[in-house]
Amino acid sequence: MTHPTPDQGRGAHAAPVIRLQSVQKSFALPNGEVFDAVHSLSLDIQQGDVFGLIGKSGAGKSTLLRLINLLERPDAGRVFVGGRDLTTLSRSELRDTRQNIGMIFQQFNLLQNATVFDNVAFPLKIHGRHSKAEIDARVRECLVLVGLAEKIDTYPAQLSGGQKQRVAIARALAPRPQVLLCDEPTSALDSETTRSLLETLRDINQKIGVTIVIVTHELSVVEVLCRNVAILEKGRLVEQFAVDAAGDAERKTALGREIDELVRRREREARESRVQQAPAQFGAQELAYV
Ligand SMILES: Nc1ncnc2c1ncn2[C@@H]1O[C@H](COP(=O)(O)OP(=O)(O)OP(=O)(O)O)[C@@H](O)[C@H]1O
Ligand SMILES: [Mg+2]
Repeated sequence: MTHPTPDQGRGAHAAPVIRLQSVQKSFALPNGEVFDAVHSLSLDIQQGDVFGLIGKSGAGKSTLLRLINLLERPDAGRVFVGGRDLTTLSRSELRDTRQNIGMIFQQFNLLQNATVFDNVAFPLKIHGRHSKAEIDARVRECLVLVGLAEKIDTYPAQLSGGQKQRVAIARALAPRPQVLLCDEPTSALDSETTRSLLETLRDINQKIGVTIVIVTHELSVVEVLCRNVAILEKGRLVEQFAVDAAGDAERKTALGREIDELVRRREREARESRVQQAPAQFGAQELAYV
């Protein structure tokens, strides 16, 4: 499968949209001990990428994701998003900068007593810089992006899980962020709904170029959606590679090898289906190159 290529104008050498520099995060445990959830970790993510973070439960994936918008403040290290060092910002500057970083969660986190319109309008209203007409137009635009325009006056309780997650995506995109952080966004969904939500995320990445960072424990999500992936173990980044580069290098981890195997299998299946559909006039030699 071909993944969308990053914005050519920005290229591979442009400054990354996310740069984590030696970030460190520890938690104090009730017994007085200190637990190191993320160990001096550095990571660059390029504008327009779809970047997967995977690893076992407790590996530090959610903590790392939450360091990107400073929902967790690092004990050491620096966090740059869109060129700004978030760790140096005042509370109000950080609130403004977070408009540039949307986030969605496994459990959707919608306002239950608000309509779909009001849920999506929420981040625009609390910042108070937009006219009513601007908010109205932007909410409709975002609902079209996620394929939910007709649900604008509905309440969350009347929506399916997949639809709720689409509302959450529309809400996250409303302030036109450069970055969308996703923490296990499909874990509460069945496999068919997952597939269609992943298509929506890919579509959004292609259409508006928003950089997506997605934490998941489902390798199929990485294989279908991600262009790059990083594998975490016990708070350390143990390997990172381009998903389409299956077989280019030895993987260090079992998870890395599993992703390679999934990608190879998909490529094999795509080749076989092309061969089956090849016109009858193809000889053996032509087929060998299909
Ligand atoms: N607020 C906290 N206080 C104490 N320990 C914490 C806190 N938040 C996370 N941890 C610990 O840090 C480690 C990493 O947690 P994190 O939630 O980042 O893992 P994860 O990789 O997202 O796991 P999962 O796949 O289960 O969601 C875990 O051992 C967790 O118990
Ligand atoms: Mg988690």
